[in-house]
Amino acid sequence: MESKGHPGLQYMRVEAELESRKAEGKPEDQIGASLHLALRKGTPQQHLRLNAPCKIEVKHANFYYGSQQALFDISLPIRERQVTALIGPSGSGKSTFLRTLNRMNDLIPQSRLEGEAMMDGENIYAKKTDVVLLRQKIGMMFQRPNPFPKSIFENVAYGLRVQGHAKKVIEEQVERSLRDAALWDEVKDRLKSSALSLSGGQQQRLCLARALAVKPEVLLMDEPASALDPIATLKIEELINELVEYYTIVIVTHNMQQAARIAQFTGFFLSGRLIEHGQTADLFQHPTQPETESYVSGRFS
Ligand SMILES: Nc1ncnc2c1ncn2[C@@H]1O[C@H](COP(=O)(O)OP(=O)(O)OP(=O)(O)O)[C@@H](O)[C@H]1O
Ligand SMILES: [Mg+2]
Repeated sequence: MESKGHPGLQYMRVEAELESRKAEGKPEDQIGASLHLALRKGTPQQHLRLNAPCKIEVKHANFYYGSQQALFDISLPIRERQVTALIGPSGSGKSTFLRTLNRMNDLIPQSRLEGEAMMDGENIYAKKTDVVLLRQKIGMMFQRPNPFPKSIFENVAYGLRVQGHAKKVIEEQVERSLRDAALWDEVKDRLKSSALSLSGGQQQRLCLARALAVKPEVLLMDEPASALDPIATLKIEELINELVEYYTIVIVTHNMQQAARIAQFTGFFLSGRLIEHGQTADLFQHPTQPETESYVSGRFS
């Protein structure tokens, strides 16, 4: 990953540009907007691989919280090393669907999934599936950054310690993960400080580094930027546009512009149903379903 320029490189370019624009006295939100235009190196379109194989294939999934059904007959292919965005109004089932992919819903009592979810041809819900291993392969980031109340180093080292790696391996992998999450330069001199001393945006990148440390194949992100300011959001989006070269990413977002900026594929959820999915540009510009049309044109939210 490092040979071809880890994701942090692009970010450093953003930082440098940001500093020079701040020096010109531009307000931060304007800087954020103009940076999006000025610096966007890889657009989602450039990373689009229409023939990308399926990494995860969900077929006819129904999900129940007790007697309440939350997902209805969802079938969605998640393509390898592409970003799939899940959009839709509040309560439409986006987070529920995301959590079915790495069995986070297992933790909810009385919940139940019917249907099929396969990763690389293996049934995610098979009895023999090692759920701990599954969640290392399919890492997750949440809406609010949730670092452990430990040092910056220990947050990233956590999963590696669980795996029983040697000290040297852990140190190397912590540095690499922090670099890939574009956080290394900001924290390299304070690795022993509490993770809670970081800003919200830094904490979110720390959570990304923590997920990256155990070498996942898939990253699930549930509105990872919704609690962040425009600049921190930009940084996360830039990172996603680089990470897509190496990881399969599924991201829930309320922000349709964000989906357009980062996702090759998008699925639209409404009332627990997947109304439509496809290439992001098609879904936004030529939706086939009237509900999608109404949603993307802002007629309901
Ligand atoms: N732990 C739970 N127990 C019972 N019902 C739940 C639980 N979590 C979610 N639900 C219900 O399932 C439905 C889908 O919720 P979900 O959180 O998946 O929606 P969402 O699209 O992620 O919404 P938002 O955009 O507000 O995050 C809602 O009706 C919600 O009330
Ligand atoms: Mg949600």
